[in-house]
Amino acid sequence: MKDSILNVLNELEVQSSLEKSRKVNVLPENRMLAITKETGELLNMILRLKKAKNMLEIGTSVGYSTIWCAEAILEQSGKIITVEHNPTKIKRAKENFLKVEIQDTILIKEGNAIDIIKEFSKQEKYRNFFDFVLIDADKENIIEYFDLIFPMVSIQGVIITDNMLYPEKYRENMKEFSNYLKANPDLQTITSNIGNGEEITIKIK
Ligand SMILES: C[S@@+](CC[C@H](N)C(=O)[O-])C[C@H]1O[C@@H](n2cnc3c(N)ncnc32)[C@H](O)[C@@H]1O
Repeated sequence: MKDSILNVLNELEVQSSLEKSRKVNVLPENRMLAITKETGELLNMILRLKKAKNMLEIGTSVGYSTIWCAEAILEQSGKIITVEHNPTKIKRAKENFLKVEIQDTILIKEGNAIDIIKEFSKQEKYRNFFDFVLIDADKENIIEYFDLIFPMVSIQGVIITDNMLYPEKYRENMKEFSNYLKANPDLQTITSNIGNGEEITIKIK
């Protein structure tokens, strides 16, 4: 991995840990709420294994997970579309992408994720288009996100959902989501205890 990418990932890991332990004063709505480093490594590995080219991310925050993914997808000259509604975080994400010179790999869609993916789902070009998806925004809408996104995922495409196990306040909601997935014969899914609990789902038909 390039030093510039490693350095920015390290800086963001320090910031994330300071925010989690409330050692820095950041408004709750501007906290990073990033995936863990271990999850970053998992995403990067899956993207490499799949030689993924087209990724969708719901929930950019300041770009920590996006950078982990971009580092892998760059090798396939792939692209990431990432969705975020908080302008302060979008500004920080753009600065971080510039620092690691991956801005051309990433398209930030600014606005409400449900509206944006509803719009995508009407476009024929996005049918079976994404070979990798990370769902990491508001947990209340998780099933709606999934239902909108699934037709846009290619066969053998992978969907990762963060926060299946932690924070505990989401556990019941996420359990319901996991059971919803398991009832779908068109996919295979497993809940892993990596990071905050990652659901790893593959579309099989
Ligand atoms: C858990 S954070 C994402 C962390 C990021 N994936 C990372 O690991 O670096 C969730 C993000 O989703 C954004 N978000 C929540 N609900 C949203 C919505 N309805 N539309 C767009 N963005 C949303 C929040 O502003 C927040 O930045």
